[in-house]
Amino acid sequence: KKHVLVAPSLLAANFLELAKEVDMVNRSEADWLHLDVMDGHFVPNISYGIPVISHVSKHARKMCDVHLMIERPEQYAEAFQKAGAQQLTVHAEICPNLHRNIQQIKGLGMKAGVALNPHTPVQILENIINDIDVVLVMAVNPGFGGQAFIPQTLPKLRQLRALITEHKAHALIEVDGGVTVDNAAEIVAAGADVLVAGSNIFSAPDPEAVIRQLKAAGQ
Ligand code: DX5
Ligand code: ZN
Repeated sequence: KKHVLVAPSLLAANFLELAKEVDMVNRSEADWLHLDVMDGHFVPNISYGIPVISHVSKHARKMCDVHLMIERPEQYAEAFQKAGAQQLTVHAEICPNLHRNIQQIKGLGMKAGVALNPHTPVQILENIINDIDVVLVMAVNPGFGGQAFIPQTLPKLRQLRALITEHKAHALIEVDGGVTVDNAAEIVAAGADVLVAGSNIFSAPDPEAVIRQLKAAGQ
């Protein structure tokens, strides 16, 4: 039996009813609130940013887990911290000085995460795995909610679990994209600690029940 954390992604929420959507997450068994920031450069889409997150974080009673899909995240890390981010994740593909990004995020008092696109091998974390709090494994190409889970993510999760064990690291494995109540158990069995889910939760008639089912994926 494994204790699974669940992080609903607000990208799939009804933005006209954001307070109600955050209330639902607050009431639910969810552990984190996942917030996706897109800049139209690193990914081919634009989402929401600092002003929205600062309001949402004041209303949220779950840890604000901010996933930056943006270029030059170092220019904005402090602004996201002030907006209420408690964990900040940057993409390895866009950070030539990834170690510096991690130190900056931790220096600002946030937990630090590194996200990997589907094509990015876990081995690039070899020399940094002991410095980070979470690895965000993308199971879809980032930019949009509602895409299908890429099956190759499962062996990749097993590789990452082995790398973390080998280095006696404490980083959590968070999986993002195409996670549903139907595939959650196999994702957890492959090594995931944290499940991000957007459309599966927010498009459901009973979102709290979906969160409960995702939480049970380790049983
Ligand atoms: C995609 C985002 C995800 C997205 C997941 O780029 O990083 O967090 O909201 O949405 P679903 O769960 O619908 O695939
Ligand atoms: Zn995300």
